[in-house]
Amino acid sequence: MASILPSLHRAAPRLTRRLFDSLPKQTPQWQLQARRAFKTVPARPAIAISNVSTVSSKTPSQSSSFARSFKAYRVKFLKAFFPRLTRKPVGYWLLFSAANVFGIVVFGGLTRLTESGLSITEWKPVTGALPPSGESEWEAEFQKYQSSPEFKLLNPNMTMDEFKKIYYMEWTHRLWGRFVGVTFVVPAVLFIVAGKVSKPMAGRILGIAGLIGLQGFLGWWMVSSGLKDHLFAPGSHPRVSQYRLVAHLGTAFLCYSAMFWNGLQILREQKLASNIEAARGTLERLKNPRLRVFQRSIAMLAGLVFITAMSGGFVAGLDAGLIYNDFPWMGQGWIPPLDELLSDFYSQKADGRDLWWRNALENPSLAQLDHRVLATTTFTAVIALFTYSRFSPTIVKLLPNASKRAVHGVLGFACLQVALGISTLLYLVPLPLASAHQAGSLALLSYVLLLGSRTWLPNKRFLQLLQKRKISPGSVANQRGGINSLHANRHVTAKN
Ligand code: HEM
Repeated sequence: MASILPSLHRAAPRLTRRLFDSLPKQTPQWQLQARRAFKTVPARPAIAISNVSTVSSKTPSQSSSFARSFKAYRVKFLKAFFPRLTRKPVGYWLLFSAANVFGIVVFGGLTRLTESGLSITEWKPVTGALPPSGESEWEAEFQKYQSSPEFKLLNPNMTMDEFKKIYYMEWTHRLWGRFVGVTFVVPAVLFIVAGKVSKPMAGRILGIAGLIGLQGFLGWWMVSSGLKDHLFAPGSHPRVSQYRLVAHLGTAFLCYSAMFWNGLQILREQKLASNIEAARGTLERLKNPRLRVFQRSIAMLAGLVFITAMSGGFVAGLDAGLIYNDFPWMGQGWIPPLDELLSDFYSQKADGRDLWWRNALENPSLAQLDHRVLATTTFTAVIALFTYSRFSPTIVKLLPNASKRAVHGVLGFACLQVALGISTLLYLVPLPLASAHQAGSLALLSYVLLLGSRTWLPNKRFLQLLQKRKISPGSVANQRGGINSLHANRHVTAKN
C-alpha cells in the first residue's frame, strides 16, 4: 500500500487537470514531459474542453485535423497512462483475493452443512453488517425466523441460544462477503489510478469486480428460495433451490479462478520479462506444435473439474449424499434401476420431453450417479495426463520441470479428492469430510490452473511485446506507469 500512495499522489492530479482544465496560461511540467515523449503530438494538443466549443466555427478540414489530433492524443495518453505490464504487487493482491474467496467458499459450505443459511430472513447490504444488539433485537430476529418454513417444519423446538449459533454462522458468511468486496474494489481502484495495471488487465479486474457484485445478488436470490411459502406444503423439504445453489457455487468458482489465474499470469509475465534470454528459450519450447495436444488437454481437464464440481453442487443441494451410501455399487448393482433414475415424478411436461434433464438435475439418485460418472471421468483424465507426461518421450523432453512438478500436484490432489468424496458418501456426509471434499475441489482446480500457467504460452499481446522488444528487463524495473514508463521503455528499446 505504501508503494501505491506516492504514485497515486502523482497520477491523480495529472489525470483531472488533463481532462477538465481549460487551456492553462503556463505550460505545466506534465505537458512538457508529454510533448517530449510524444513528438508527433501537436504543440498545443486539442484536449481542452474550451476547444471543443469552437469546433463548429472551423472549416471541415480544420475540424477533421482537430479530430485526428484529438484521437492521436487520446491514444498516446492511454498508452502512457497504462503500463505495458501489470506490476507484481497487483499479482500478489489478486492471489490474496483468491485465497479470500477460497476461505469464504469453504465457510459457505460449513454454513450450508450446519443448516444455518436460512437464519437471516432479510438482506440489508449496509445496515445488516452489524448483528442484533440487546435482547429485544434478538427477539425480533428470532420471530422473523419462526415464521419461516425451516423453523416450522424442521426446528420447531429451537431455543434462542441455538438460534444465535446459526445466526452468527450466516452473519459471518455475509460479513466475509462484504470483506471480499471491499478488499477487492478499493485496491483495484487504487492500483488502476496509480498506473500499476495494464489496460487489458484493468478490464479483467473490472470484470471480476462485477462478478463479486453478482455473487452478492445470487447469495440472496438463493436464500430467498428457501423462504418461499410453497415450502410449507406437506411433503416438501425446506431448503434452497439446488439451481440457485449451483449458480452461487459456480460464480464463486469462476471468481476464484479469474483471480487466481490472473494473479499467476501477472507474476509469470514479470518473471519472463525480467530475464528475456531465458524466457525466449522457455517460450521456444512451449511453442513446439508437438506440445499442443498436452496443452489442450490441460484446458479440457480444467473444464472437466469445473463441471464435476458443479454436479457435486447438485448432489449437495439435493442432499443426495444421504442415499446410496456405498461405493462403487449403488444398491443392488452398479447403477439404480432405470425407472428410478428416469422417474415420471420429476417430469412436468405431458409428453415427457423434460424427463431427462429434470431427473438429472432434480432426482437425487440420478444426480448422484452423474457426479460419480463425472468424477470417474475426471480422475481417469488425470491419470491419462500423468501417464502422457511421464511416458511420452516428446513430452518428457519438451515439458519444463515446473510443469512436471505441477502434474504430480494435480495427480496428488485428484487422488485426495476422490478419497474424500468416497469417504463423505460412506460416512453419510459428516461435516469435516464434506467440508474437506469441497475445499479439495478448489485445490484440484487451482493445481490444474497452475499447471496451465506453467505450460500454456502467454497471451498474444505479451508475446508481441516481447518480440518487438517493447518490454525488457529495464522497463520492468523502471515501470512506474504513465509517461515515465514510456520514457524508460523507449530509452531501453533505443539502446537495444
Ligand atoms: C474429481 C473429483 C470430484 C470433484 C471435483 C468433486 C466436487 C464436489 C463438489 C464441489 C461438491 C459440492 C460441495 C458443496 O457444495 O458442499 C461435491 C459434493 C459431493 N461429492 Fe464430490 N467431487 C469429486 C468426486 C467425488 C466422488 C468420487 C464421490 C463419491 C463417490 C463424491 C461424492 C460427493 C458427495 C456425497 C457430495 C455431497 C456432499 C454434501 O452434501 O455436502 N465426489 N463434490
